[in-house]
Amino acid sequence: MNLENAIGKIPNIGKLSHPVKVVVVTGAGISQESGISTFRDTGGLWDRYNIYEVATPEAWHKNRKLVLDFYNERRRELLSVKPNAAHKALVELEEKFDVEILTQNIDDLHERAGSSKVVHIHGELLKARSTVDQQLVYPIVGGELSLGDYCEKGSQLRPHIVWFGEEVPMMGYAEQCVSKADILLVVGTSLSVYPAAGLLYSFQGSYPIINVNPYEDASSFNKGVIHIKEKAGKILGAVVRKLME
Ligand code: APR
Repeated sequence: MNLENAIGKIPNIGKLSHPVKVVVVTGAGISQESGISTFRDTGGLWDRYNIYEVATPEAWHKNRKLVLDFYNERRRELLSVKPNAAHKALVELEEKFDVEILTQNIDDLHERAGSSKVVHIHGELLKARSTVDQQLVYPIVGGELSLGDYCEKGSQLRPHIVWFGEEVPMMGYAEQCVSKADILLVVGTSLSVYPAAGLLYSFQGSYPIINVNPYEDASSFNKGVIHIKEKAGKILGAVVRKLME
């Protein structure tokens, strides 16, 4: 299906008389045009770094400094970029709908663009967490987390990130949220990391899922999916306008 036909299939729901809940699942692709590299595209982060050396509990036990340096670099990168047209388009949706964003991203670009309900399924780059009490979460002041930065109980702080092999505490909430959605919009994710990728199975709405991705078409979910094969920054504005008509 070409792009025009795909856009034409997006339902116009802006004039419905009942409240409409729009849930948006986002991944690294939505921040790509801001200048943050994705994980699995060619030249992506997992091409340049070994996941098992920087993003697992084992990596943390083996070499804390390497892990901290990796995330300090990600944080420096984040502080030098801005939200793009795709993040901003999602803010416009709030004019008409109850919008909730479930992002796999650890950046804060949705918040900086102005979205009001954002859930970070895989944690947040700008926060640190105690290694003895996971309820103790702190903002990272100055952008760097170092060996010797302690929580109030005296233990080393770690990045507030869900690493591979760890539980995903926000999953239950995220699944509930998707199950209540009228519209499910998926933007910029390879849908290759579970349990987050499985969120699409919780959708019970009557409209097709809308998937925005220039390179991949979420073929495992091809039943009832409108594939918008274009970069999010270029096309999400048009998708949002069509929904709001
Ligand atoms: N607009 C929309 N999509 C894009 C763009 C763009 N400009 N550029 C790339 N993409 C798509 C790619 O085609 C790819 O399908 O974004 C997707 C990015 O996929 P991944 O790199 O796998 O990122 P993501 O799906 O967010 O990864 C999930 O994996 O490593 C973990 O915890 C990390 O949250 C992350 C999780």
